Amino acid sequence: MHFYVQLITRAQEEERRRISRELHDDVSPFLLLLIQRLDTITSSTQLKQPQELKEKLEILRSQAVEALEQLRRCAQDLRPRILDDLGLVAALEWMAENLTKDCGVDAQVKVVGAEPSLTDEVQLLLFRIAQEALTNIRRHAEASRAWITMGFGDDRIVLTVKDNGKGFEIPQRMGDLASIGKLGLAGMQERAQLIQGSLTLKSELRKGTTVTVEIPT
Ligand SMILES: Nc1ncnc2c1ncn2[C@@H]1O[C@H](COP(=O)(O)OP(=O)(O)OP(=O)(O)O)[C@@H](O)[C@H]1O
Ligand SMILES: [Mg+2]
Repeated sequence: MHFYVQLITRAQEEERRRISRELHDDVSPFLLLLIQRLDTITSSTQLKQPQELKEKLEILRSQAVEALEQLRRCAQDLRPRILDDLGLVAALEWMAENLTKDCGVDAQVKVVGAEPSLTDEVQLLLFRIAQEALTNIRRHAEASRAWITMGFGDDRIVLTVKDNGKGFEIPQRMGDLASIGKLGLAGMQERAQLIQGSLTLKSELRKGTTVTVEIPT
């Protein structure tokens, strides 16, 4: 069973990487060109433009800029280049900064121990778990602070993502959530199990939530 989950996970990551590359390399340049052309038209002194037209073009420009930003964000979420270029810790720091920038949640990353050389698969897996935990903080927690801790021990790696938000009642079985279409927590657990790891969830109403992933190395 795990073998198939692993194959599916790999295929999904490959597909995400491909879509991310296409958005970044093929679609983004078109939008950029559109913005530049709109700039050329509005700044051209030869063309006599009524003020009204100029204003409309400027609105179109800002919409195109917004679309480009969203597209870039989407491409990064699908497959953050920072993970491939700078590794897991840098990618976690990048996500924490985004959480602060976008939602005003004061998010900090702490690293304990020296980062060993991890396989791409393990890095990606830990990254995906942290990504889902942080997405949940954005969407559900109503937190003001978040803490991400990466602990590198001799024989295990422990990742915790903690928030001081509203907390929630943890269901008896993750499968109950999955059966109503909530796949985040169940997916985190499955990913951890893929590499013989485990996921622990703690949550207390009005106090916050902690997700802990432990994997053997
Ligand atoms: N950090 C958190 N703070 C408060 N509630 C949370 C937190 N994380 C999860 N929850 C609660 O647990 C539920 C299940 O989370 P889960 O990630 O499985 O699903 P989801 O986020 O609702 O949907 P998705 O499938 O898109 O992830 C959420 O709907 C939310 O009510
Ligand atoms: Mg979720």
